[in-house]
Amino acid sequence: MPVRPRKIIITKPGGYDVFSFEDAAPGPPAPGEVQVEVRACGINFADIAVRLGLYQAAKGAYPLCPGLEFSGVVQATGGDVAGFRQGDRIFGASRFGAYSTRINCRAEQIWHLPHTWDFVRGASFPVAYLTADYALFQVGHLNRSDRVLVHSTAGGVGTALLHLLRINGNCCVGVVGRSEKSTHAGEAGATFVIDKSTEDLWERAEEISPKGYDIILDANGASTLRGSYNHLSPGGRLLIYGFASMFSSTGRKNPLKLIWGYFRTPRFNPFDLTGTNRTISGFNLIYLFDQTELFRRIMARLMKWNSEGQIPPLPITTFPFEEVARAHRALESAGTVGKLVLTV
Ligand SMILES: NC(=O)c1ccc[n+]([C@@H]2O[C@H](COP(=O)([O-])OP(=O)(O)OC[C@H]3O[C@@H](n4cnc5c(N)ncnc54)[C@H](OP(=O)(O)O)[C@@H]3O)[C@@H](O)[C@H]2O)c1
Repeated sequence: MPVRPRKIIITKPGGYDVFSFEDAAPGPPAPGEVQVEVRACGINFADIAVRLGLYQAAKGAYPLCPGLEFSGVVQATGGDVAGFRQGDRIFGASRFGAYSTRINCRAEQIWHLPHTWDFVRGASFPVAYLTADYALFQVGHLNRSDRVLVHSTAGGVGTALLHLLRINGNCCVGVVGRSEKSTHAGEAGATFVIDKSTEDLWERAEEISPKGYDIILDANGASTLRGSYNHLSPGGRLLIYGFASMFSSTGRKNPLKLIWGYFRTPRFNPFDLTGTNRTISGFNLIYLFDQTELFRRIMARLMKWNSEGQIPPLPITTFPFEEVARAHRALESAGTVGKLVLTV
C-alpha cells in the first residue's frame, strides 16, 4: 500500500516541541531528479543543530524539513535520468529534506541499495561513511603507518572511521565517554580504547603512544581540542569537524554553555604551527554537496569494500517516523552507540 506523503517540519528553531507533521506530496521529479518513496531516514548530530537553530547552513531556511540521508524505492524519474527506474531500491544523501516519506532528489546523490542491505542500513550509511572517508583520505592524507586517535568513537561517524581505519590497517585509539561503549569500539576496530569516564584521557593516550598521534579526529570542540593539538606528533594533522561539547542535553540551547564553549575553543598560533610542523584542518560535508564527482568517487570505493565484505553493519537503533523527538533526545543524551534511524 502506498505511504501517505508526509514531511517533518521545523517551523522555527527550538526544543522537541517544534516538530510538526505536514501532508505534502512533491510534484513530479524535474529533469535529473528521481522521486523516492522513503522507507527510512538517518538521524545525524547536524539535525540537532538544525532543530536548535545553530546550523549555519540552515540559517534563514525555516520552515525547514531537516534530514540528510534516506533510503527507499524509486517511484518516478524525471528527464535525463539514467541508471535508475521505478521500483529500484536505493539510498541517498540530500541537503535537508530527508525527514519525509516521499522526496524528489538528484539522481547523482542516490545509489542502488546492495542486495544484502535492508532500508534501515541504507539510511544509516551515507553521511557517516562519506564523512569518515573524506576525513581520512581527502583531508587527512592517511598513511598505513599513521597512528590515529578518534574521539567519540562509538557514534555514527566514529564507528565508520574505525571501520575504514581497520580496512587500511592502521593502529588506532578510540575514545569513548561512557564505559558501556567500550566493547563496541573494540569490536569496530579500535586497537586501544580509552574510556574517559574512568581514566585520564591524555595520560592514557601518552602511555599508548608516547610520541603522539599522526592524525587526531575531533568533533567535540572546546572540551578536547587543545589536548588534541598538544598530542599531535611532528607532522601530525588535527581534523576538526564538529563542536558537540557545546550542546546541552536538555533539548534546548544553553546560551551560557555556548558562550563558554566559544571562548574556550582554542585559536591556534601560526608561528607555533610552523615551528612544530602541525596541520589543522576543518571541514563540513554540507558545503560539498555540489561536488557530485567527489561523492560518487568516494561511494564507489565504499561500495567496493562493502562487496568484499570489509564493511560490517554498525549498531542501529530505530524509531518510528512519528517519534522523531525521542530519537533527537536519545542522540543528545550522548548515550547512543552507532546510528539512529527513523522508519516509515
Ligand atoms: N563536518 C562534517 O562534515 C560532519 C559530518 C557528520 C558529522 N559531523 C560531526 O561529527 C560528530 C558526530 O556526529 P554523529 O552524527 O555521528 O553523532 P554521534 O557521534 O553518534 O553522537 C554524538 C557523540 O558526541 C559525543 N558528545 C560530546 N559532547 C556531547 C554533547 N554535549 N552532547 C551530545 N553528545 C556529545 C558523545 O560521544 P562520547 O561521549 O562517547 O564522546 C555522543 O555520543 C558531531 O559533532 C557532528 O556534528 C560532522
